[in-house]
Amino acid sequence: MIFSITAKRLISYDSSSSDGKLWKQFDAFLQGLLAFPLYIPGTAFYKCMQGRKNVMKILKELLNERKKATCWESVDFIDILIDDLKDKKTLMNEKIALDLLFLLLFAGFETTSSGITATLKFLTGDPKALQELTVIHEALRLANIAPVMFRKATEEVHIKGYTIPKGSKIMVSPSSIHLDPTIYKDPNAFNPWRWKDTTEPMGGSSKEFMAFGGGLRLCVGADFAKLEMAVFLHCLVTKYR
Ligand code: HEM
Repeated sequence: MIFSITAKRLISYDSSSSDGKLWKQFDAFLQGLLAFPLYIPGTAFYKCMQGRKNVMKILKELLNERKKATCWESVDFIDILIDDLKDKKTLMNEKIALDLLFLLLFAGFETTSSGITATLKFLTGDPKALQELTVIHEALRLANIAPVMFRKATEEVHIKGYTIPKGSKIMVSPSSIHLDPTIYKDPNAFNPWRWKDTTEPMGGSSKEFMAFGGGLRLCVGADFAKLEMAVFLHCLVTKYR
């Protein structure tokens, strides 16, 4: 469902008339995303790379088709990209445009669908929370959907007696904050009410809440994702039992 919503906005994907090819290739990519990088036929990593290659092929065909279209009215994100490609002063090129489409299809889908799944899992065991539904932050804190983020030290950094040499790769682990008992009382408990007394983290992130990352690379889709999840939950609890 989430893939269809995002892909409709980005590339006018119509899930009801689609043969499922794009989705299957995408799924192959997702399955091997964190796999051991052994590039030989049969491995999860190989399937992942093939999936990415095939999705890029489909997106490229789509972009070329759309570029040829004579009658033109902007309806989705591809149109915005094509418009940008035509601009003489643009930094955009076809490779960047295709990478952007791929990235947004991925970032807009895998994360939010996992977030909804986690929310449902926690709600199933908590009828009181189901009644109040102020749950999204708490589910994201416990689920740690983006388990790691990567950074590179562009200069030598001194922090708490340690030295991080210039050029080091840093792996940020939000779960070590989200599950820290000095920050969150009884951190493993699903307790949406803990958010009642705190204000919303500024811009969606704080040192204590990093489900959407933070700083310059803060998730651009954070509010969109929370809106999608809230709409989903609203429909679920008001229309279904
Ligand atoms: C529950 C849902 C989501 C979670 C938990 C999530 C999490 C994150 C995190 C942790 C980052 C930071 C990565 C880093 O610092 O290296 C990030 C970045 C990003 N996210 Fe999300 N995300 C979600 C939904 C979405 C959606 C719906 C979209 C787009 C429609 C999206 C698009 C992006 C993009 C483009 C970036 C890169 C931003 C940049 O580097 O400037 N995300 N997300």
